[in-house]
Amino acid sequence: MVHRPPQPRARILAVVGARPNFMKVAPILQAARRVRGLQTTLVHTGQHYDESLSGAFFRELRIVRPAVNLGVGSGSHAQQTAEVMRRIEPVIAARKPHLVLVVGDVNSTLAAALAATKLGVPVAHVEAGLRSFDRRMPEETNRILTDAISDHLFVSEPSGVTNLRREGAPHERIHLVGNVMIDTLLRFRKRAAALATPRRLGLENRGYVLATLHRPENVDTREALRIVIDALVAIARTVPVVFPIHPRTRARIDALGLGSAVRRAMGLRLLAPLGYLDFVSLLDAAALALTDSGGVQEEAAILGTPCLTRRDSTERPLTLQGGANRLVAASAPAIVAEARAILTGKRRAKTLSYALWDGHAAERIVSVLAAKLLGHRAAARKGA
Ligand code: UD1
Ligand code: UDP
Repeated sequence: MVHRPPQPRARILAVVGARPNFMKVAPILQAARRVRGLQTTLVHTGQHYDESLSGAFFRELRIVRPAVNLGVGSGSHAQQTAEVMRRIEPVIAARKPHLVLVVGDVNSTLAAALAATKLGVPVAHVEAGLRSFDRRMPEETNRILTDAISDHLFVSEPSGVTNLRREGAPHERIHLVGNVMIDTLLRFRKRAAALATPRRLGLENRGYVLATLHRPENVDTREALRIVIDALVAIARTVPVVFPIHPRTRARIDALGLGSAVRRAMGLRLLAPLGYLDFVSLLDAAALALTDSGGVQEEAAILGTPCLTRRDSTERPLTLQGGANRLVAASAPAIVAEARAILTGKRRAKTLSYALWDGHAAERIVSVLAAKLLGHRAAARKGA
């Protein structure tokens, strides 16, 4: 008798495109692999393509090689979004998944969700419901539109449920499951610490600031970029500042002629974008994180590293609890004063603790999906 491997009963097409997507999808793919009857296929849109923004994460986080890379690359918002839609449509049509799963709020997220919906394929959105209430952010448009067309809304923090309910999302679509980015953080924290990246860079634990900045509002105009650079230069006079530079920011620094001010600044260490483990190793031991990243706010809050976020609003209000994260206005003196208050111990921050940021969000997501797609509850550690 010929023995045939069991056929998957439900196929999920997961889509990633940019750096913050990779650490979010990794634990979901891992949890789904453990459920008999579920098959996952990964598609990379190619929105991010540099080794340091993409390839490195697949190796470090042990993510399967994408079955398809759409090779979309950079472009204007309309170009990038349209190109992902155009290129992913035939992939979805040919593979006929039972579900398309998207994460986060980048252009690839919205484009893949839109293409799937138009083909009649249900969509699951992981990190649904987050709102900055700032429509100048391209991500806010991506969040609102992706949530509006998604069938399964997986939410990371309570504010997301409130926002979705206010927008009229049906109760049964909303699942408060916790934070997949924190799943990855907790899984890799020890391995990251073992790299001792601060020591390898000649830095003392809690003796440096880690900075990341890439949001258009901080880096796209000369005035905005000047403010954050002046602040970094001033802080670096008293404590080393490590600054792994996003390619968008590097390009703006060069285009706006601010390169020499940055390179000459004493105490400011410019690095290429870091791999995940090196970055987490540095974040865990920093005295302060100065950032405009969405994900870094959450990671810093859980690691207990005080975080200053150079933004007027955050879509992640949970991180503000107990002062784990603080928003700071676009003013160099304000940024420097806030940084000093933390660095001199005048202002203390509490490590964030939230029951659902426990390392098991992906299991809860897969448990819900298995129930919907296979009609049974998967073996998950905690019910969603
Ligand atoms: C994108 C996301 C943002 C996310 C960030 C994470 C959108 C609208 N923005 O912003 O939400 O926080 O990723 O890092 O989806 N570039 C390279 N190499 C690459 C990729 C980009 O050099 O591999 C440069 C190009 O000059 C490109 C620029 O960075 O034009 C911006 O890239 P893009 O993907 O459009 O937006 P990000 O600023 O990276
Ligand atoms: N990160 C990294 N190397 C870096 C900077 C950030 O690995 O040099 C990681 C960080 O730990 C977090 C994620 O990238 O997991 C955040 O992505 P990013 O800031 O690009 O996007 P955002 O979260 O703002 O959308």
